[in-house]
Amino acid sequence: MKNFSQNDIISIRDLSKDNLEEIYSKTNEIIEMKAEERREIARGKTLGYLFFEPSTRTRLSFQSAMALLGGTSFGIADATSSSVQKGESLADTVRIMSGYTDAIVLRHSLDGSSKFAAEVSSKPIINAGSGTEEHPTQAIQDLYTIKKELGKIDGKNIGIVGDLKYGRTVYSLLYGLSNYDVNVHLISPESLKIRSDSTYNLKENLSYTESENLDEYIEDLDVLYVTRIQKERFPDEEEYVKVKGSYVIGQDVVNKMKDDSILLHPLPRIDEISTDVDSSKQAKYFQQAEYGKFTRAAILSLLLQ
Ligand code: CP
Repeated sequence: MKNFSQNDIISIRDLSKDNLEEIYSKTNEIIEMKAEERREIARGKTLGYLFFEPSTRTRLSFQSAMALLGGTSFGIADATSSSVQKGESLADTVRIMSGYTDAIVLRHSLDGSSKFAAEVSSKPIINAGSGTEEHPTQAIQDLYTIKKELGKIDGKNIGIVGDLKYGRTVYSLLYGLSNYDVNVHLISPESLKIRSDSTYNLKENLSYTESENLDEYIEDLDVLYVTRIQKERFPDEEEYVKVKGSYVIGQDVVNKMKDDSILLHPLPRIDEISTDVDSSKQAKYFQQAEYGKFTRAAILSLLLQ
């Protein structure tokens, strides 16, 4: 992508390393700015959100980011309260929203939904989660957190554990990480390994190992990125029950981590990180969620200019 202005953000694969670095710089700039200066950035602009799946962080952080920039936001947080309930199509819903707003944030259960929306929208579409495919703004926030907390991304050992098959944040994160010189260790039950059909060309640009055993890597990791088992995406509940609770990060696991390593999670967590770990110095997942407000403010400021 040459520049962000009025462009869609559908896949993190469309962003170059320079694009990512521009977002991190803009994020730092926005954090440093005076509140009244920030409020000028999107004054008079409106963000529309269309969430066809539940969300806490992504929707609220986009709304919070828009408020920070002096703009307004409105939208559909629950499709059952919209005319989708009467049978209105996604295409028509997007067309209508694009007439009311300057950009649209879309979350939908179908792979390809954001790409499709971008084809019918007259305003930029930001993918806030499309099926099991991608969640690019989450990955941007994850990469920013690593850089902010560890000083750099290059040279780091990064473990990603949990549901690598259905977790869309994982695919965006892997593609984002392929811009950097990192060692990635993918740890999951055999049945939840990453989908080879969704990692096209990834091996050429990213060095990674696959294993079921977190203990093999835990002591060397700089980042442990934990993901939730995505119960809602399993076609068969029995298959979910077999892998439920496969990895639980408790204090015993954190004790094996390096002192200066970080523990991340896109959230929500269910039981894969024990709450007693929350006060450990490695636990950065709530900080990571807060950075999401600023990285999304940076994305909006670049896109709406
Ligand atoms: N990480 C994330 O996408 O959280 P929400 O589902 O709450 O938006």
